[in-house]
Amino acid sequence: MANESQNWVLMVTAQTPTNIAVIKYWGKRDDSTLILPVNDSISVTLDPNHLCTTNTVAVSPIFQQDRMWLNANEISLSGGRFQSCLREIRSHACDVEDKKKGIKITKEDWSKLYLHIASYNNFPTAAGLASSAAGFACLVYALGKLMNVKEDESQLSAIARQGSGSACRSLYGGFVKWVMGKEENGSDSLAVQLADEKHWDDLVIVIAVVSSRQKETSSTSGMRETVETSLLLQHRAKEVVPKRILQMEQAIRNRDFPSFSRLTCADSNQFHAVCLDTSPPIFYMNDTSHRIISIVEKWNRSEEAPQVAYTFDAGPNAVLIARDRKAAALLIQRLLYYFPPSSDDLNSYIIGDNSIAKDAGINGIPDVEALLPPPEIKDNIPSQKYKGDVNYFICTRPGRGPVLLSDENQALLDGEHGLPK
Ligand code: DP6
Repeated sequence: MANESQNWVLMVTAQTPTNIAVIKYWGKRDDSTLILPVNDSISVTLDPNHLCTTNTVAVSPIFQQDRMWLNANEISLSGGRFQSCLREIRSHACDVEDKKKGIKITKEDWSKLYLHIASYNNFPTAAGLASSAAGFACLVYALGKLMNVKEDESQLSAIARQGSGSACRSLYGGFVKWVMGKEENGSDSLAVQLADEKHWDDLVIVIAVVSSRQKETSSTSGMRETVETSLLLQHRAKEVVPKRILQMEQAIRNRDFPSFSRLTCADSNQFHAVCLDTSPPIFYMNDTSHRIISIVEKWNRSEEAPQVAYTFDAGPNAVLIARDRKAAALLIQRLLYYFPPSSDDLNSYIIGDNSIAKDAGINGIPDVEALLPPPEIKDNIPSQKYKGDVNYFICTRPGRGPVLLSDENQALLDGEHGLPK
């Protein structure tokens, strides 16, 4: 380290999106820490303006140990998954020179230098919205930039995968496939981009954050139990998913919403069926989730072609993908009809891109109260309402992949001591 002073702090800030799988990853094919899946999966990256993780990573000779803060609270980095990511990324580090600051770090120096990492989610971490996917992707992407790692996004995805499987798909925007690979060392288990976010920009995504009192089984332990006990999973991984992956790739290529919707809903339902086939069975969806499925199914069936696809991860939240803005506005009307807000503040009930609610003619609570039952429910059946069963809705769309934030004001660590601002 040929540096005039030893007090420098070098840092990089990056922003990484979260993603929602439309063909699910569920199950690891071995017990190693490599995180190798039993099948390929495909996801849609969500617009980082509404859901993303920002990470600032810093290196300095004044740091005494690797440290990390999540939403300003210090967290431990001792977990195996953090350690795998840090070890892997350090092993790919290259020489770095910042002439302006008089800093020179050689490839070899990186193993002796400590890191500070600050991470921030622009959405509630506890809401069950794949925060670990965006988090590990952002950690690996930001460190890759700091350390001048030459590997491309796909190779970086194989490192992020070792933090959390679904994280590997957050290294790209648009539509992403995680190729399961065959190698024992995991070198070919990585993400590839199928199409960028501009390819199919009609789609609108509405997430219903569903109230839940129950503590859910984590994805990691849930899928372990499924692999150990479910015969249906073996059938799914061998017979069902390989065909679905090809059909989904084609549906995305052709912007064929009816096929996209059919495959997305079927795959979500099969994933939850596999959870039910686990011993003891795992229930991720609740009554509200089931109600949302019925609302969408009933509406889709009453139209000539499907308007909305639904998919659910390891929790009760619904991710609804509407074919275009018009369908999204009609969807919002239906959702607000069945799940009216429990407070008067509509702006905190529909967050993200709230122009969709405006399209639906909903500018305030009186508009919600004036909503009529959707035409697909028969007039003579009084439809029940479920106030309070949805915490809030997030309106978003397919979005871009990771980016660097060069404005120092956006950094989460201060440039002098490398501590949270
Ligand atoms: C249902 O990636 O959270 O969201 O690899 O053990 O960290 P680990 O699991 P994780 O599992 C995600 C499962 C899923 C489906 C998906 O995203 O494909």
